[in-house]
Amino acid sequence: MVSAVERKIEQYIDELDDKFVSTLYRKLPHGKRLRTKLILKIAGSDLKVIKTAATVEMIHAASLLHDDVIDDANTRRGKVSINASEGNKTAIMMGDILYSKAFFELTSISTEIAKVISNAVVQLSLGELADVELSKRFHTNRDAYLKMLYQKTASLMEASAEAGAILVGKNREAYRKYGRNLGLAFQMIDDILDITADSKTLGKPALHDFVEGKVTLPYIYLYEKLDINDRQKLISLHKKRLTPQNEKWIKEKMAEHKIIDEAYSEAKELVVEAIELMESLGERDLSSIAKAMIEREF
Ligand code: FPP
Ligand code: MG
Repeated sequence: MVSAVERKIEQYIDELDDKFVSTLYRKLPHGKRLRTKLILKIAGSDLKVIKTAATVEMIHAASLLHDDVIDDANTRRGKVSINASEGNKTAIMMGDILYSKAFFELTSISTEIAKVISNAVVQLSLGELADVELSKRFHTNRDAYLKMLYQKTASLMEASAEAGAILVGKNREAYRKYGRNLGLAFQMIDDILDITADSKTLGKPALHDFVEGKVTLPYIYLYEKLDINDRQKLISLHKKRLTPQNEKWIKEKMAEHKIIDEAYSEAKELVVEAIELMESLGERDLSSIAKAMIEREF
């Protein structure tokens, strides 16, 4: 029923009665609709469920439009990003329009759902701000990084799962935890793939995070393992365009110290916890979604 959510978003966009906005919306790549899949699997396909998923996807899309401006990105999911093709001003306003319309629609679902989702957007914004701050210089603050990861990515997945549970009277705490673990693992795996996957699969250059200034968990773990000279070298490469030799050096050091295995096991632990939780509740489809996450390649 993901298509019912797509149609609901299209209806919301049509209601804005603005041809340019409709054209811009059609240019946005849809992505995996992971949050929709969670909500539908938890809560079925009642109108309120479809509306909740539609608002969450619109908020997610808005956050990515703003994120691409902040990151000065040229592509999104392998396609030219809106900020790159239309300019920053248009990308920001399109984000604001999607976000505001989503909130307008949320208020007619229920106060409880609106509270859960809007609180996640506060977290999302705090997380993005923390990401910007953390990316300014090299750091090794794992706790600050994990907090930012939770806020920036896990909070909306957590809220999606919780909202789904509220809509059908399931145990909101259990589903909230499931969403949180999945969100954290999702971003941790994203960070790993930025190092291991080839640029064609990712739709962005390899080691892009580090070049952008993002010191993700594998880099923090690598730093801890390196000797003093190599630590200096790693710091000197932060936020720089990497030569093929330096790219190779980082990847070799990651392999030598088994950093990817370490980071992957951490993500896997969270996923296993999510799987066990869902199996204990008889939610086989939801445990399958979690399983697929640790096997994904992009
Ligand atoms: C992607 O991070 C960014 C997010 C998941 C959240 C961005 C949140 C905001 C801009 C604040 C909220 C704003 C609104 C309007 C709701 P990334 O840059 O690490 O990932 P990427 O590789 O996909 O760009
Ligand atoms: Mg970004």
